[in-house]
Amino acid sequence: MNKQTAPVKGFSKWSKQAKIEWLIAHYSAEPQSALRTIEEYWHINPDLQKIHDEFIENALTNFYLPFGVAPNFQVNGRMYALPMAIEESSVVAAASKAANFWIERGGFKAEVLQSTKIGHVHFIWNGTDKQSFTDFFHRIKTNFLSGTNHITANMRTRGGGIKDVALVDKTQVEPGYYQLELRFETCDSMGANFINSCLEECAGIFQNALMEEVALPMEDRSIQVVMCILSNYTPECLVRAEVSCPVSAIEEGSGISNQEFAEKFCRAVRIAEIEPYRAVTHNKGIMNGIDAVVLATGNDFRAVEACAHAYASRSGQYTSLTHASVENDVFKFWIEVPMSLGTVGGITRLHPMVKFAHAMLGNPNAAELMMITAAAGLAQNFSAIRSLITTGIQKGHMKMHLLNILNQLEATEDEKKTIVEYFKDKVVSHSAAVAIFCQLRGIPAEQFAKQQR
Ligand code: MEV
Repeated sequence: MNKQTAPVKGFSKWSKQAKIEWLIAHYSAEPQSALRTIEEYWHINPDLQKIHDEFIENALTNFYLPFGVAPNFQVNGRMYALPMAIEESSVVAAASKAANFWIERGGFKAEVLQSTKIGHVHFIWNGTDKQSFTDFFHRIKTNFLSGTNHITANMRTRGGGIKDVALVDKTQVEPGYYQLELRFETCDSMGANFINSCLEECAGIFQNALMEEVALPMEDRSIQVVMCILSNYTPECLVRAEVSCPVSAIEEGSGISNQEFAEKFCRAVRIAEIEPYRAVTHNKGIMNGIDAVVLATGNDFRAVEACAHAYASRSGQYTSLTHASVENDVFKFWIEVPMSLGTVGGITRLHPMVKFAHAMLGNPNAAELMMITAAAGLAQNFSAIRSLITTGIQKGHMKMHLLNILNQLEATEDEKKTIVEYFKDKVVSHSAAVAIFCQLRGIPAEQFAKQQR
């Protein structure tokens, strides 16, 4: 239902009430019910609602996701209960199952391999004397540090700042294209604003110094700055998490022998390593765990996603983020994934549930959060592969999804209880759930299907 015929002007300046009225008048077939839905999702505490309203432009209400907990994660010997914000039914259950499995086998071992972030000033220089241009860059290189002191002062007291500045010649791929490539340590912040501010300052420093550069002809003393921006590809901000146990200790309980489980598991991972169609689904499962923790802890899951998939493609072929081996009768399963996370800045100290999530984790620093999150991704992948190579994925998945189906059917609490009980020893499918629901209500299934159309 769309009644809008002309552009709306100055919308962002309108009051929230006016925006809601306009939206409902133009885009809702059922204004009363739309209004009720919007208002039902307002926070009862107006101060908290205001915080949410101020996160983004044109906020009307809130969008809830379940916030769950996956207990029993042992990472580097320490126990964690993982906060997970996600809508997919089986994700928290799968994480918990893997955590329970591995806690009896030594838990997760994780380490941050590197923590460097990168940003670029992308610019065009059409001069011809590349050597003089490069010499000029090296002569003024220290200016980038001294000229950004006012921006980097706080970060430097925490051990961070600009680590390096390089001039990168990209003219082989695009005429006149160069980069100032800066490397940063941003400590416990994700650092996007810090990095972008430094880059913009460095672009100015470079332009100003170049104007004064006598070794170059006048016409070569300017650049066109195309843009200054951090890269969300952070292959030098890398975390590794691992689980391992003797093959004889696998005893995973589905009836398959330990040896067969280990071999089949490694083969499933190998398929994801060599077959992009499988790798995407495999990595999607990993991101189920990673995104849920990233979202709950108020981090930028789009950046983490984009980076993980770029990293998975770094060889030129999209491949698995996890790997598995059996050597000397030891089964080992690990993940190596770049991840730029913050435990300060952004909404980490603003969003009440995000604050709560950090507190649940013992207010970790960024490195700890990277390790915990990588463990969540590895756990998720372990559970998925374990199901895939033993019972099949649908058994557990549909069991978890059953309540969604029943809620969609508007089943009563009693009906839900009966139907969940009924499926305890049966495979759930949508049609089987509808059939038993209709049987309970005494309606012919065909008649119900027609009503639903
Ligand atoms: C579903 O969200 C994720 C899985 O498909 C992952 C996988 O296949 O490895 C179960």
